[in-house]
Parts: sequence; structure tokens; C-alpha cells
Amino acid sequence: MNQVYDKLMRCYESVKARVDFRPKVALVLGSGLGDFASQMDVEVTVDYKDIEGFPVSTAPGHVGRFVFGYVEGVPVVAMQGRIHYYEGYDMSDVVLPIRLMKLLGAEVMFLTNAAGGIKQGFKAGELMLITGQIATFVPSPLRGANISELGNRFPDMSHVYDENLQFIVKKSATKLGIDIKEGVYIQFPGPNYETPEEITMARTLGADAVGMSTACEAIAANHMGMKIVGITCVSNLAAGISPTPLSEEEVIEAGKSVSVKFTSLVKDVIKTIEDEM
Ligand code: HPA
Repeated sequence: MNQVYDKLMRCYESVKARVDFRPKVALVLGSGLGDFASQMDVEVTVDYKDIEGFPVSTAPGHVGRFVFGYVEGVPVVAMQGRIHYYEGYDMSDVVLPIRLMKLLGAEVMFLTNAAGGIKQGFKAGELMLITGQIATFVPSPLRGANISELGNRFPDMSHVYDENLQFIVKKSATKLGIDIKEGVYIQFPGPNYETPEEITMARTLGADAVGMSTACEAIAANHMGMKIVGITCVSNLAAGISPTPLSEEEVIEAGKSVSVKFTSLVKDVIKTIEDEM
């Protein structure tokens, strides 16, 4: 058997033995955004460290557990803390939780993150709807033997972020009076922040926000046929645009400052997904 699939199935069995809950939406909470979980009607939590073979997240601002519960009555599994490539894991481990949440029943993958703003006019504390992505600077999580139980060898990536879900986010934002920008997310490997020259390159390539996660997760979720939606919290202006040195404290603080509008938007989108999809 394929080792990656074997490990995934072991993690799946380990979670299934603890939890009897079928989520509709999988929600990945980015740096500084983990507090959203306190808004859920929690049924059960599972620490990553208690799942056999599961990669444990070491990043600051990431708790490291699955939270199973309801958001506006909709069954959701939230990741309070994701796994990053820069922590040293293989890409197959980085996306293992994404695949696991799909196996548990989730149809929609709701990705959130903190990122540096590249696009002219972006300000720290703003939200950006992800309309597309550039993942070329990190290895594909699909590298290696294809796991045909999960998806095709050469999955199409023309529409990674579901158009209908993008529409729902924009509609919710308008309803709630939240100004949301739109743009393309680029993933760099990290853990170092970028140089100003790399940011100039990223802008030239068409990127509007830069981070160290998300795009690889979207590839794995797309491979499995999930509907994907992504929201970025612009935590800082990217290197060379920001007048001050970049720091993780700034990223986490920005997450907290944006949490009220972030929370109301995510809740409303999840409710609308249940009503309309
Ligand atoms: N660069 C990369 N990742 C990030 C940034 C950034 O400026 N801000 C938050 N995550």
C-alpha cells in the first residue's frame, strides 16, 4: 500500500475511534484567527498529539487540535492550528489534515490565513477574498505516486476557488458592511519572511498577498474534489512596502484586531453555504 495513504488511513481510524461527527464544512484557522473556535457549539475536540502518526504543529499562534461542533447550526470541523511546510514536514504530511477532514465527510474547505499585503492600497487589518493562487515556489503535495482513492493523477486547477462560494463571501460582506478586497495569494516556503526583491517578483507575477500556507492545502483539497473558499487577513504590508521590520507578533496581533469582522463574516458565509448549497 502507498505509505502516504496508509498513514492517512491510520489517522482517519484513530479520529473515527474518538469522534462520531460528520462535518459539512472544514475550516482551517490561520495565525491569530484560532479564537474563532470559541464561537462554536463544541461537541468534541481532538488534540493532534493524540492522533497516531499525525504531524504536530509548532507554529506560534497555533493551538494544535481539531474542534468538532456547530457554527450557526452547521456541522463544522475546525483546525485550530495548521501544519506548515517550514516546520520541516513533507508536503504529504502538511496536507494530511486536509485530506482527513474530507474523509470525515467535509464537502467544503474553508481556508483562512494571515498574509503580507502586496497589492498597492492594501492595509494591515483588511480582509482579502482569495480568487486565485500561485503555488509554484513550494513542492506539490501531489508529488509521488498518485493516490487514486483520493483523486486523479493530473487534476485540473483552472478553478481552485469555487466561484459560487466567492459570490457568497462577497454577498455576506456587503450585507455585514465589511469592506473585503480580492486578490491572488502566493505561497512561499518560509520560515523567513521575503526580501523586498522577492516581493517585487511576486507582484510582477500577479500576486496580491503572500504567505506560507494555504495554496498547497487548496491543491490537495481540489485533488479530492472539494469546493474551496479562502479568506486572507492582511496582517502586515509585505517586505519593502512595510516601513517596519516584519514580526510574528505583528501577524498575531493583526489577527486579533480583525477578529470581530472575521468572525461575523465566516459565520455568515457558513450559514449561507448551508442554506444555498
Ligand atoms: N510574508 C509571508 N507570510 C506572512 C506574512 C508575510 O509578510 N505575513 C503573514 N504571513
